[in-house]
Amino acid sequence: MSFPTTRLRRLRRTETLRRMVRETRLSRDDLVLPLFVVEGRGVREPVASMPGVHRFSVDRVVEEAKAVADLGIPAVLLFGVPDEKDARGSEADAPDGVVQRAARAIKGSVPDLCVVTDVCLCEYTDHGHCGIVEGGDVANDPTLARLAASALSHARAGADVVAPSDMMDGRVAAIRGALDAAGFEGVAILAYAAKFASAYYGPFRDAAESAPRFGDRRSYQMDPPNAREALREMQLDLEEGADLLMVKPALPYLDVLAEARRRFDAPLAAYHVSGEYAMIHAAAERGWLDGPRAMHEAVLAIKRAGADLILTYAAKELAARLAS
Ligand code: PBG
Ligand code: ZN
Repeated sequence: MSFPTTRLRRLRRTETLRRMVRETRLSRDDLVLPLFVVEGRGVREPVASMPGVHRFSVDRVVEEAKAVADLGIPAVLLFGVPDEKDARGSEADAPDGVVQRAARAIKGSVPDLCVVTDVCLCEYTDHGHCGIVEGGDVANDPTLARLAASALSHARAGADVVAPSDMMDGRVAAIRGALDAAGFEGVAILAYAAKFASAYYGPFRDAAESAPRFGDRRSYQMDPPNAREALREMQLDLEEGADLLMVKPALPYLDVLAEARRRFDAPLAAYHVSGEYAMIHAAAERGWLDGPRAMHEAVLAIKRAGADLILTYAAKELAARLAS
């Protein structure tokens, strides 16, 4: 039963046939759009290293959230960029912090839109690290209480899902405990479970003003060569109570995502990060790639590898493309 009897080209002959045998379908339901929230009023400023991405003040982020919902995208992920930073990241759990105000405002005017909040300290600390610094390193256990307080303040502001991105050991259990003790047992945790110390976060750190002032994040984010360790991280986060597990970045770690799909029944998310987005736009600006097609292919590959949810800055352009 091989050539010339078997001809795989038969089912590729027309768009109708191709539609019928397509194995993977990207849908607007798969997408989550990250949004950066800054202080001030009437702000909608472009991020230079991420064409098409803006930073919004709370009033303007509500308009953006409505536009996102109108495109059929089910969720946004909020990042706060505060004016005031200090060593303990005090603004991270301020009841009237930028993310808390944004979450309240979005849930007030677009209640069906799922609000996910990024829980970390790097946007709020003056040193730019994701935790409390002691003796030149990020101290794991003292950081847990700060992360739990931050997650709780997001829940109080109406967040549906909290997403810790710090990579401290034990943070999922600490956050679950704090949420449950305060009556927020219905708020879900999306754990950035397998988050690698990646070069692809560069544009994000411009947008969030969160680059570390000294050193780097390699003592807490994962070492890029390690795939088995990533699965251990995911297993531990599940045992600590994570509802959804994330792999980040996405394209350079599709092997980890595919193996996680085989191993875990929990919903899986993948973060198509700032650098993955920026490099497609940069090549398209030079005329070297068809930008919209390359973006679609990249995000489709992430779904094919096993992601249920894809966090991508291209969510709006993809949703518009998928609707037509
Ligand atoms: C903060 C955080 C980062 C990203 C998401 N949350 C940056 C970092 O760890 O330095 C990266 C997102 C992106 O690059 O799009 N902990
Ligand atoms: Zn961080």
